[in-house]
Amino acid sequence: MTVQWPAPTARLLLRAWCEADRAPFRAMNADPRVMACFPSTLTDVQSDALFDRIVAHHAQHGFGLWAVALKAPAGDSALIGFTGLSIPAWQAPFGPCVEIGWRLAHDHWGHGYATEAARSALAYGFDVLQLGEIVSFTAAVNHRSARVMQRLGMHHDAADDFDHPALPPGHRLERHVLYRLTRQAWASQP
Ligand SMILES: CC(C)(COP(=O)(O)OP(=O)(O)OC[C@H]1O[C@@H](n2cnc3c(N)ncnc32)[C@H](O)[C@@H]1OP(=O)(O)O)[C@@H](O)C(=O)NCCC(=O)NCCS
Repeated sequence: MTVQWPAPTARLLLRAWCEADRAPFRAMNADPRVMACFPSTLTDVQSDALFDRIVAHHAQHGFGLWAVALKAPAGDSALIGFTGLSIPAWQAPFGPCVEIGWRLAHDHWGHGYATEAARSALAYGFDVLQLGEIVSFTAAVNHRSARVMQRLGMHHDAADDFDHPALPPGHRLERHVLYRLTRQAWASQP
């Protein structure tokens, strides 16, 4: 099983999770601004359950959503969010696949951190895991997340868009956009 981590970036560490991360993770998941494009904020119990699922995904697959921290001396390695690779737990119409995803505490939006961390995670996925393609999807109304996908050079084809099966018909978040990046396209980026 793979045990390496994505490379640190100019400003960030992508690191393993630790118990001290549970509190900032709970706070991020309870923030309505952060969770605006999800069905609801998470209670502490729901946040801890997600934390446990993330750690279990790492144990099962050798990769996952990595904890993101600011590099010292600017930061103290405290959690500012996550970015990483995961295998969707539901039967995606475009699956099987590996997805890249991100979530940052609101104070850390608008600095380029999600895109910077995602580039390291993509490099890990393509260069270490040798994946042929990495996808990303989000609610169609989540324009900030779609802009990260665009900045990463991911490709959107409207024919791939889909209604998320976990959401009831007509839900404001039901429609989802899908972006794809092949290893070939990644390798040809400047
Ligand atoms: C999605 C999310 C991670 C995007 O965060 P973000 O800060 O907008 O994205 P980035 O980290 O790439 O930062 C880009 C912004 O930083 C700005 N920026 C400032 N300094 C910068 C720098 N040094 N380098 C690059 N960009 C910089 C860019 O101009 C850009 O701003 P703009 O979008 O207003 O033009 C964040 O909104 C979030 O956590 N949302 C909630 C969770 C979520 O919806 N996740 C996705 C679910 S699928």
